[in-house]
Amino acid sequence: MKNTVHPVVFAGLCAVLCAQEPTTPEMKFAWAPADDPMTATVRSAGDRLIDRIGGSLIVEVERTLATKGLDEAVELLHLKNLAPPKPLEGKPRVTAIKMPSFRVRDPKNAPDAADFAALDLVRIALQSGEAPPKIIVQKVEPAGAPTEWRVYRPIAVNPKCLLCHGSTESLQPQVQRMLERLYPEDKANGYQAWEWRGLIRVSYEAPGAAPAAKSN
Ligand code: HEC
Repeated sequence: MKNTVHPVVFAGLCAVLCAQEPTTPEMKFAWAPADDPMTATVRSAGDRLIDRIGGSLIVEVERTLATKGLDEAVELLHLKNLAPPKPLEGKPRVTAIKMPSFRVRDPKNAPDAADFAALDLVRIALQSGEAPPKIIVQKVEPAGAPTEWRVYRPIAVNPKCLLCHGSTESLQPQVQRMLERLYPEDKANGYQAWEWRGLIRVSYEAPGAAPAAKSN
């Protein structure tokens, strides 16, 4: 009897304690091993690509706010036309770009288990008053798909971001209306200037790996 009771008790406990954490049991992941050459390769490629993505994100926000109405800006942002760079022979291939956060506006940015672990690493550092890691490299082994190497970097909000991610009371009525219409489950508000917002993530596949199942 005991054996049948325990799992139920644990499941019940987890429903309370692990409410936030996504459950993707088929996904194995770990911090990328320092002695694997792929770790250094994807770290430097990912670092450069995240620099570009972060730069484009800021430039796009500034341009859009300068040239469009706020309600249109809510529809246009962010980086909707961003495509992974073309694969180069013999180099790791970019398979996905994502911006996961603990508080998402668009459900497509909701963290999976491996994203969640990377977010947690930053959260714990910040809560302990330490500098968050500048870059995180992770090795993910999804069931039935090639190994995925993920590179993450934390991003913060600047004062302009608060036009759409600030406290609900501070948002202009047209922003509020658009957000309610397009993102009814929005949780990405209530931020303060320079607060940590989430991560920019790029995913890589080793050269020569079999085509991966689509990753989100
Ligand atoms: C005009 C409104 C607007 C402004 C200004 C804005 N955002 Fe967003 N943001 C959005 C919308 C809409 C989404 C959901 C769509 C998407 O993910 O692209 C979003 C999503 C995000 C996400 C993905 C996680 C999630 O919540 O879904 C991040 C990260 C983010 N914004 C960061 C920023 C940063 C950093 C700035 C300032 C540099 C900024 N945003 C400025 C409207 C805005």
